[in-house]
This record gives sequence, structure tokens and C-alpha cells, in this order.
Amino acid sequence: MSKNIPHLVQYQGSKRILAPQILSYMPRRIKRLVEPFSGMAAITIAAAAEMRANQYHLNDLNAPLIALLQEAIEKPTELLNEYSRIWKDQFCYKDDHVQHFYFVREKFNNGEESPANMLYLLARCVKGAVRYGKNGKFNQSPDKRRHGMTPQKLEQNLAMLSSLLKGKTFFSSLDYREILENAKPGDLIYMDPPYQGVSNVRDNRYFAGVSFDDFAKSIEVLDRKGVDYLISYDGMCGEKGYGRDLPSTLNCSKVLLNAGCSSQATLMGQHKVTYEALYFSDSLKKHFVSVGQLPLWEKIA
Ligand SMILES: C[S@@+](CC[C@H](N)C(=O)[O-])C[C@H]1O[C@@H](n2cnc3c(N)ncnc32)[C@H](O)[C@@H]1O
Repeated sequence: MSKNIPHLVQYQGSKRILAPQILSYMPRRIKRLVEPFSGMAAITIAAAAEMRANQYHLNDLNAPLIALLQEAIEKPTELLNEYSRIWKDQFCYKDDHVQHFYFVREKFNNGEESPANMLYLLARCVKGAVRYGKNGKFNQSPDKRRHGMTPQKLEQNLAMLSSLLKGKTFFSSLDYREILENAKPGDLIYMDPPYQGVSNVRDNRYFAGVSFDDFAKSIEVLDRKGVDYLISYDGMCGEKGYGRDLPSTLNCSKVLLNAGCSSQATLMGQHKVTYEALYFSDSLKKHFVSVGQLPLWEKIA
């Protein structure tokens, strides 16, 4: 991935590394790119860096995450100032930067879900993984070796991010089904739901996992409306597949993208490549055939 593509923070499940492969399955020009499960928006950012779409829609059920993206894109200076204040504070907070993380986490859990607090927690927590307990509180631990992105580095990333997406991006924090109900022909929907089996419960407003059957029903609606879509959905490591395939009744095809060597297998002295599935709608396939641009599926399918 090019060094010129900005990112805000490490985020578990991010598609940053796979973005060039995923983008090769998208048309060159898109009216509106919609991400119902945006996370940290790696695909939208990579697409914007190639000026693929006129408009972007970022949605994620996690409202503080979307508020963070919105602030970063629309008010980067405010976010930078507030983050810098919190970040610097960790070095004098009772001589213990780990305790500072717990202090900010406590504030976040007591209603101060500001974009800067969210960014700091994500930047400092283990694996950039958002975790909420059954009581709805953010309960991920700090990574004791990390202090989080420096304000200097953040400033560069914010400037690039904002210049790519400001004035072109709509933000929402709804269940993905509402977004798909409103999708229309001309949109390209890129979906990256949580891995099957991941049930990261917060409360009804936040993640409770995505049901396989509900998800498949929503895709059927896109098929009926003739809306173009791409779906990242589980995959395999070595010989071992994980997750169920989407139903064969859907009008889409599947390819496997090479996501590199599994770090867990490497630690165990094995060399295993991880593959992630990408489904693309038949309407998208027809588009590529009509413009004579056959992407990689010919080779991988
Ligand atoms: C695998 S992550 C997406 C990562 C993203 N592609 C990236 O590159 O950063 C899945 C996202 O789905 C969101 N999510 C979970 N359930 C959802 C739902 N019902 N509706 C919308 N978003 C949901 C989670 O908050 C999480 O950020």
C-alpha cells in the first residue's frame, strides 16, 4: 500500500493491506461509494486517494467511531488540538501512562465519548480492538508498550484525510440494514461485516454480531434492485476454512484474496497463507465485461 494513503489509527479487521486488491474489483468511476460497516474506513480512504467516487457514505453502528471519522474529516484542527492535549497528559499523569489510559477510559464510559477520547483509546488499546463488556462499557486493556500515534504524525494524516474526503462525505450511525434499504442503482456498496462468530455485545444500539440469515436477506434485496456490491467475508488459512459461504442463490461470485502469511502460524514455525473471501455482484461483473476490463477473478476463481 502506498505510503501516501493516510490512516487515523490501527483498527482490528482493517482492510488497509487488502485495499489495493479490493479496489481492483471496483469500477474506475463510481457515483457514490457506501460503506455500511465502515470501521476506520480503509476502503473509502484508499478509493478517495484514487479519486474513484464523487460521493462517499460512511456508516458504522458504533456511533463514537463515526463521530471520530466525521471530526477528523470536517474539523481536523479541533481533533488534533484535543488529542494532543490528552496525548501529552499521559507523560505527566501520576508518573504512570498506563493509569492515564484507565483514566480516559473511565471518562469515556461516563458519557465523555468525544472523538479525541475515542481516538486516544483506540491508539493505545491492545490490537486497536474495540471491546465492550455486557454492561456496554469499553473494557479493552491498554497496550503497555504503546503511547499512541504522536501528534506530529497525526497532523500529517489528518491533513491528507481531510483534503481527500471533506465536502464529499456523508456520515451515519445506523444498523447496516437501514443503509442497504436505501441503496439505489448507481451506488457501489462495499461491505465488511464483523467475522462470523464474532459477537461483541455492547447493548442494543451497538454490536451484537450480524446474523448470517439477516445479512443474506439484505443482499437479496440489493440483487433485486440491481445495486452493485462487494463483500469481504471470512476466508481460509492454510487448508482450514472459516465461516460459512454466502448462499449460492445470491447473484454474486466469490474470489479469494491473498492476505499474506498468518502471523500466528509463523510464530508456530509454519508457513500458512491467509485468504480472505471477496464476493462481487453479478451486476458488477457485467460492468467489467461490458468495458472489456476483466479483473483478477479469471485467475483466482
Ligand atoms: C470488520 S469491521 C470493518 C473494518 C473496516 N473495513 C476497516 O477497514 O476499518 C466491522 C465493523 O462493523 C461494525 N458493525 C457491527 N455490527 C454492525 C451493524 N449491525 N450495522 C453496522 N455496522 C456494524 C463494527 O462496529 C465494525 O466497525
